[in-house]
Amino acid sequence: MECVIRQATREDCDPLMGLMREIAEFHHLLDEVTINSQVLKTDGFGEDPFFKCILAELPAEKGGKAARPIGFALYFFGYSVLHGRIVFLESLYVASEFRGKGIGVKLLGKVAEIALAAGCKEVRFVAMEWNSPAKDFYLRLGAKDMTQSHQQWHSMELSGEALQRLAQKGRRSPGGALGSSSGQAQQP
Ligand SMILES: CC(C)(COP(=O)(O)OP(=O)(O)OC[C@H]1O[C@@H](n2cnc3c(N)ncnc32)[C@H](O)[C@@H]1OP(=O)(O)O)[C@@H](O)C(=O)NCCC(=O)NCCS
Repeated sequence: MECVIRQATREDCDPLMGLMREIAEFHHLLDEVTINSQVLKTDGFGEDPFFKCILAELPAEKGGKAARPIGFALYFFGYSVLHGRIVFLESLYVASEFRGKGIGVKLLGKVAEIALAAGCKEVRFVAMEWNSPAKDFYLRLGAKDMTQSHQQWHSMELSGEALQRLAQKGRRSPGGALGSSSGQAQQP
C-alpha cells in the first residue's frame, strides 16, 4: 500500500481526532473521550508539547480525493529509572479498511527509528487483555508481554477523586510549590 509516513502538524488535528475517536470506539471507550481537536492543537502543537504523533497518509488522487490520514502513532518521551530514555507509545491505529497491508509495521518502525535516534532504550505500550490481534501483532515483532513475564507488571493509573485526594496531601506537604508553568494545564 502506497502511503506516506510523516509527522503530524497542527493542521492535522481534525482528522487525527477522527481517528482517535475510531480507536476509542474500537476499545468500547467512545463515551470516555473528553478531548477534541482544539485540545490536541494546544497539547501537541503549542509551546510545550505533551505528545508527538506520526501519521500514515494516503496521497491525493489525481483529480480525485485529497490526501487523508488513515493511521497514526501517538507517543511521547519518558524516562526509566532502570534504562534511562524511553518512548511511551500511547496509541497505534490503522483504519479498518487499510489493516493487514503493512501500515501498522511502517508506523511502529518509524517510532522505533525515532526512539533509537533519540537515545532511547525501549518503547513501552499497553494492550487490552481481549485485544489478541494487537498482542499477536506486537509479539510477532519481538515485543515482550511484561504482564506474562516473571516480573508480572500491571498497568495502573491514578485519576478522578483519588488523584484529587492525593494532590491535597501534596499541597499540605511542606516545601513550597514545585510546579512549573509547563505542568499547568492550558485552557484551549
Ligand atoms: C494493530 C494494528 C495497528 C496493526 O496494523 P496493521 O496495518 O493492520 O498491521 P500490518 O499490516 O502492518 O501487519 C503486519 C503483520 O502483522 C500481522 N497482523 C496484522 N494484523 C493482525 C491481526 N489482526 N492478527 C494477526 N496478525 C496480524 C499481519 O499479517 C502482518 O504479518 P506479516 O508481515 O507476516 O504478513 C491495526 O490492526 C489496528 O489498528 N488495530 C485496531 C486498533 C488496535 O488494536 N491498536 C493497537 C492497540 S494496543
